[in-house]
Amino acid sequence: MATSSQSSIAPTSSTELPELVSFQNVTKIFGQGSDAKVAMQDVSFVVHDLPNKGELVTIVGPSGCGKSTLLRTIASLKPHFPPTKGEVKIFGKPIECPGSDRGLVDQKYSLLPHLTVVDNIAFGLKLKGIARSERAARACEWVKKVGLEGSENKYPSELSGGMQQRVSIAATLILQPKILLMDEPFGALDPRIRLRMQELLIQLWKEQEGTVFLVTHSVEEAVYLGDRVFLMADKPGRLLEILQVPRPEESPEQTRRKPWFIDFTQNLLRRLEEDTPGSTVTKLK
Ligand SMILES: Nc1ncnc2c1ncn2[C@@H]1O[C@H](COP(=O)(O)OP(=O)(O)OP(=O)(O)O)[C@@H](O)[C@H]1O
Ligand SMILES: [Mg+2]
Repeated sequence: MATSSQSSIAPTSSTELPELVSFQNVTKIFGQGSDAKVAMQDVSFVVHDLPNKGELVTIVGPSGCGKSTLLRTIASLKPHFPPTKGEVKIFGKPIECPGSDRGLVDQKYSLLPHLTVVDNIAFGLKLKGIARSERAARACEWVKKVGLEGSENKYPSELSGGMQQRVSIAATLILQPKILLMDEPFGALDPRIRLRMQELLIQLWKEQEGTVFLVTHSVEEAVYLGDRVFLMADKPGRLLEILQVPRPEESPEQTRRKPWFIDFTQNLLRRLEEDTPGSTVTKLK
């Protein structure tokens, strides 16, 4: 990891706080011998359990730099987990398997094809043993929050990609995991809905006081949403730098026009371009 990031990894004010997620020299290699592919090399960071707040960490970097590998390692999902080397701890303890403390909105949103929108959203509550009437009421609230009124009884095959993505987001958020892992959750959304979902995420994150790790290809989205941005690079996949971002209070449209925001995103793009010329990371989304 770049030494310039060390100070922001464990700010003085956080060092007394419990550790929520920590990676210590985590490496993941897929395959062996001449087929070996280093998906993530020597990644170390700490995210603390900020009281009554949580932290929103965004992860940005070119395609193939290990962003999904990092998220899926936190979620303890195979084949990304366990790592080849290094140690991952959640709440200060080594992890062995997925748990309800972590919820993943996957890059390939995985809905159950035989269930309607409302039943997909309520599915996790059913597994938790929540009564049918309460499940239905809570799922209906979430249908509204993600703007899917009128589609409650449709099946995933009848929905657009962006609508499926919103069902997937609602199905995860309804479970209120302490650690929310989002892998390009807004990738398939049109720009108007994307802005609405970004605002909704910030609002929900404030309400739930959880910690969010959000992967995005958009530098602007990373800077707008993140308290900290994890900047990743490729060949091998690694954590290049961790940047602290001032939390904007304005809407995405207003923030995008602020000089600090323009400088910040341009510096980030320059840093990525220097490290990975021709990077797939985009400025605008
Ligand atoms: N199950 C797997 N088996 C073998 N190699 C894998 C596997 N999953 C990921 N990889 C490799 O590990 C590297 C990192 O993959 P990862 O999916 O984490 O990248 P990413 O940053 O999420 O990319 P993208 O932005 O395209 O989603 C890639 O080279 C990928 O081909
Ligand atoms: Mg990915």
